[in-house]
Amino acid sequence: MLIKVLGSAAGGGFPQINCNCRNCADARAGKPGLQSRTQSSLAVSSDGAAWILLNASPDLRQQVDATPELAPPAEAGARGSPIKAVVLTNGDVDHLAGLLSLREGFALTIYATGRVLATLAANRIFDVLDPRLVERVQLPIATPVGLACGGASLGLSLEAFPVPGKVALYLEDASAGPGLGTQAGDTIGLRISEPGSGAAFLYIPGCAAVDQALADRLRNAPLVFFDGTLYDDEEMISQGLSSKTGQRMGHISMLGAEGSIAAFRGLGVERRIFVHINNSNPVLRRDSSERRAVEEAGWEVAFDGMEIRL
Ligand code: MLT
Ligand code: MN
Ligand code: ZN
Repeated sequence: MLIKVLGSAAGGGFPQINCNCRNCADARAGKPGLQSRTQSSLAVSSDGAAWILLNASPDLRQQVDATPELAPPAEAGARGSPIKAVVLTNGDVDHLAGLLSLREGFALTIYATGRVLATLAANRIFDVLDPRLVERVQLPIATPVGLACGGASLGLSLEAFPVPGKVALYLEDASAGPGLGTQAGDTIGLRISEPGSGAAFLYIPGCAAVDQALADRLRNAPLVFFDGTLYDDEEMISQGLSSKTGQRMGHISMLGAEGSIAAFRGLGVERRIFVHINNSNPVLRRDSSERRAVEEAGWEVAFDGMEIRL
């Protein structure tokens, strides 16, 4: 199984269009130790020919352009794409807007929970994906499904599981109280496995907390890509970027007793990689003390183009 990180940044990317935070300003100025990043997405393949996108980011065209494996294969004739499926982990703009760039008329399967499929159905712009070519499949929870396109197996199995999270920003309902209308199925994690080889990994780009059920899932996993949005729950506020904490955005932070670094300690996860990294996060600076701290804790910081073979 081959995994490619297409985009390692959170919503907005890095540097972000309107952001003058220290990271964004320095990246824009070309200072060393800061690498641009596109928005959150992975690509995975069993055979290296047919590819599945885990989330479809608004930067999809740029990501495909930077990834030779995703170019139209010569055998396809005049038109064709190795992208055969997209799996969505929530309804956030950074995870589904890329669907609109897949409207060029080729067969594809979209996998998502009923909640996220309802968002697609409620927004007619997604009907630009021709229903005769693009199938929408509802993911069951905690039941593995074989990924397929047009009835042909893609060689990988997928299990969706619920994780603590928050409904997409544009669906927040203040009148619904503290959860803002969040329901089961709004945020999922994925376990992707290859029945042929037994290789497997977990992908959890959005997660508000590591509860007992999630800790049990994570235990002894060989590889986990995990929500690395913020280093510190208050960093958006202290940098003057936003009035929201990470918790308010539905994202666990790296630091602290309730943070991801502490939560993973003792779970025996062999390889831990942060993805969905916000532009405010100091780990984006290669020479920062925060970067050193996460690496000393056994974590890697994903970058665009990162490739892993399992
Ligand atoms: C998030 O991860 O919290 C969202 O992508 C935020 C957004 O929609 O910009
Ligand atoms: Mn996001
Ligand atoms: Zn910024």
